[in-house]
Amino acid sequence: MAKMKLYYSPASPYARKVRVVAIETGLDKKIDMVNVALSPVAPNADVDKHNPIGKIPVLSVKGIDLFDSPVICEYLDSHHKGRKLFPRKGRERWVALRQQAMGDGLLDAALLARYEGFLRPEEKRWPDWNKGQMKKIEGVLGQLEAETKALKGKPTIGTISVACALGYLDFRFSNFDWRAKHPKLAKWFASAAKTPSIKATVPPPG
Ligand code: BEZ
Repeated sequence: MAKMKLYYSPASPYARKVRVVAIETGLDKKIDMVNVALSPVAPNADVDKHNPIGKIPVLSVKGIDLFDSPVICEYLDSHHKGRKLFPRKGRERWVALRQQAMGDGLLDAALLARYEGFLRPEEKRWPDWNKGQMKKIEGVLGQLEAETKALKGKPTIGTISVACALGYLDFRFSNFDWRAKHPKLAKWFASAAKTPSIKATVPPPG
């Protein structure tokens, strides 16, 4: 398989999904990692050349730039011979894709809240915006708590996405005690966090 190049940041939870999938599929050895710094107000010219949306992760392979994380993860999963992380068909597939949508949706709201509370100048912050994003996060957590049973078993793109989303809450929202109201989900995550690929991609402090 051709050598691939992944533009990522160690703090990005979306890039973490891709890194976990790369490890789980054994394709991590075939990927050159390009660590880039960027934010919505400080774009990265190199990333812009590979993704018109100016976001990471981007996977460059065989002259094509792939984005965003669901597309890259599915590409990687289609290029290995082991157990598939995207179940091919049936209810299992839709359960996994729905879990991915919940994990990514939680992350979208968390990122918007993070930018509001960290990047936006203090005098311009809008508390209702934050409240709105936190409501979405709470909504996903509540749904996942009700569906914890479906997270159990071998990793899929769904469980990987949820684990990366919960990891981001611990990383950037450490004062938000999501475990208190979601004990079943907390128990599942305590076990998922011990998976070697999840452990190997924990964001560094800072
Ligand atoms: C963060 O530092 O929280 C972050 C960095 C890159 C992408 C998304 C989040």
